[in-house]
Amino acid sequence: MHDQDDDKDFSRRDFFKTLGVGAVASASVSLTADEAAARQALAGVGPGEVPITLTINGRRHQLQVEPRVTLLDAMRTRLEITGQKRVCDRGACGACTVVIEPLNDAKSASSGPGGRTYYSCSMLAIEAQGKNIRTVEGLSQGNALHPVQQAFCDHDGLMCGFCTPGFVMSTVALLEKNPAPTADQAKRALDGNLCRCGTNIGVLKAALAAKVVTRG
Ligand code: FES
Ligand code: FES
Repeated sequence: MHDQDDDKDFSRRDFFKTLGVGAVASASVSLTADEAAARQALAGVGPGEVPITLTINGRRHQLQVEPRVTLLDAMRTRLEITGQKRVCDRGACGACTVVIEPLNDAKSASSGPGGRTYYSCSMLAIEAQGKNIRTVEGLSQGNALHPVQQAFCDHDGLMCGFCTPGFVMSTVALLEKNPAPTADQAKRALDGNLCRCGTNIGVLKAALAAKVVTRG
């Protein structure tokens, strides 16, 4: 199941209301202790630009953003990392899906599954600091596609391609946790992503064919 399923009725507007940007209130969603501490640390930040550091695909980027800027917008408009797409911009389609993992997982290609999928349109850039954010740009090795990317090509898992980077990242997260999912498990893992072109059968075939993914 998509990691954000528990939050699916929680709109980005609700999210910003509960976060506040100058006064952090208790959010109405359950947070881990780390997430709650991170939000508390943001109290009083802004509203002007603040310096932040984002680690994306293992590379550190320093930038200035207003606290209200989402991770998706920071990546796309400030860093020109445009692999993840902005489609609904409200946590409904999954086109912006990234995998976020503890920073130490980025240091070792064999560190194992530590990542969770997030809608980057529904997360503030300042909240994504101190973690490794993985996007579709970080998957291929030179001209060699990641096995999941190759499987999407081999099994017609895309048409217009707008949803594809999100599906690919959700599939990568799934296979790193469960290298041999059943069809039902794959469907549930990808149910937070939508394809308006109707390529879902191809996407499912690709996810099942790309089993046993190794971190590249
Ligand atoms: S663009 Fe983020 S969920 Fe649709
Ligand atoms: S391939 Fe067009 S939206 Fe999925």
